[in-house]
Amino acid sequence: QGDPAQTATILPPGLTYDDVLLLPAYSDLQPGEADTSTRLSRSLTLRIPLISSAMDTVTEARMAVAMARQGGVGVLHRNLPAEEQAQQVDLVKRSEAGMITHPVTCSPDETLADVEELCAHYRISGVPVTDADGVLVGIVTNRDMRFEEDRRRAVREVMTPMPLVTAPVGVSRDDAFRLLRSHKVEKLPLVDERGRLRGLITVKDFTKSEQYPLATKDADGRLVVGAAVGVGPDAEKRAQGLIDAGADFIVVDVAHGHSRGVVDMVAKLKANGQADVIAGNIATRAGAQALIDAGADAVKVGVGPGSICTTRVVAGVGAPQVTAIYEAAKACRPAGVPLIGDGGLQYSGDIAKAIVAGADTVMLGSLLAGVEESPGDLIFINGKQFKTYRGMGSLGAMRGQSYSKDRYSQADVAVEEQLVPEGIEGQVPYRGPLRAVSHQLVGGLHQSMWYAGARTIAELRDRGQLMQITAAGLKESHPHDIQMTVEAPNYHGRR
Ligand code: XMP
Repeated sequence: QGDPAQTATILPPGLTYDDVLLLPAYSDLQPGEADTSTRLSRSLTLRIPLISSAMDTVTEARMAVAMARQGGVGVLHRNLPAEEQAQQVDLVKRSEAGMITHPVTCSPDETLADVEELCAHYRISGVPVTDADGVLVGIVTNRDMRFEEDRRRAVREVMTPMPLVTAPVGVSRDDAFRLLRSHKVEKLPLVDERGRLRGLITVKDFTKSEQYPLATKDADGRLVVGAAVGVGPDAEKRAQGLIDAGADFIVVDVAHGHSRGVVDMVAKLKANGQADVIAGNIATRAGAQALIDAGADAVKVGVGPGSICTTRVVAGVGAPQVTAIYEAAKACRPAGVPLIGDGGLQYSGDIAKAIVAGADTVMLGSLLAGVEESPGDLIFINGKQFKTYRGMGSLGAMRGQSYSKDRYSQADVAVEEQLVPEGIEGQVPYRGPLRAVSHQLVGGLHQSMWYAGARTIAELRDRGQLMQITAAGLKESHPHDIQMTVEAPNYHGRR
């Protein structure tokens, strides 16, 4: 029966990013030679190990597009009606493609005002015009509309009618490019033997491929995107809508992932089998094992490390993030299931620390909330620019018509005063376009890999060694004995 005097189990201390450093090791590579490709889930890979958080101040379509272009990926938040979230998936999937398989079209009877609305919504410059049978009858672009004053005019009166430059379905990329170039056109509709529109190739997609060589794309050349759901019948319906809209993976996103609801939800989604299923969050080996046993294609780790989280003080629950990753990896590694380290990263150096602890990728909230592509407007305070950032368990995110308070198991709490928040609301400095921020984060990781002598993420994880440091060590790690007068692009001081 054990010692009757023992009343509780107290485990050894857990460690987080600030508690450890990555040891330098013999290196025969230059930072630029390091390959940061990694596994996001059982079937998806990324060229850079960064994921933007499923939070309403971090990831909507614009951020997801920007993340995928840089070689990472975004997870669309779920604090909005299911149809709107599915629309966001659709926006990302249509944003850039080798071939657009279901182009946005209009009918010849629609008005110019209708088409302009379509173009603004999808951020496109024109649409093919089809009749009731789907037969291509023309194309209408900004150029056709620009000098038209009457927005009520019908498309048929201003469109460029057939014959247009078209190509058969299945045309090669090279032939398509040759056609676009020789005819000096920007859009190449693909038609079948009966003249029905079957796809569209645009010149913009060729230039984007050159501009974003690392972009995360699916088999059809479209950007990859994930979307978050909760648990239960409504969430199942939501997930189906997201998959139908083209989501490449679904994230079962609950603050306590080691729970029956999440395990059941993962099993159900896996039985359906149409998209990879990522599940979280957990912070222990047993938690990771439960999600793996349920069939998860990746496990998300982090209970309370987030910069906006108050779970650890409100509930007194969590595990310091490096130890949480290290423990969860004991279940993930043998099963070959990728691990996402979610939350708590403050500097680029934390990415390598997470990987050495056992992560394949990291999920970022605060480090990305300040970029141009995150939702929300700029806020000016004393001449400085900020953007809003809030926890999904904050009062602001849970009050009123919230679709995500079930993340904290509070879906049935109708009265605001009875909500128990597990997050806070605030602002972070504006950081400019994602491209620049991502460059610094990934650049820092390249430096880590150079110091560690690791050419690949797998080598970094296998060979990297973390050393625990003391408070004095941490003080030594940060700039000290100097007053910082110029802010570096990748260092904004100590918390
Ligand atoms: P960072 O540190 O990158 O963390 O800002 C982002 C992650 O924090 C989680 N998250 C929350 N956790 N209360 C919590 O306890 C909240 O209100 C909250 N909102 C987000 C989430 O995992 C995110 O990716």
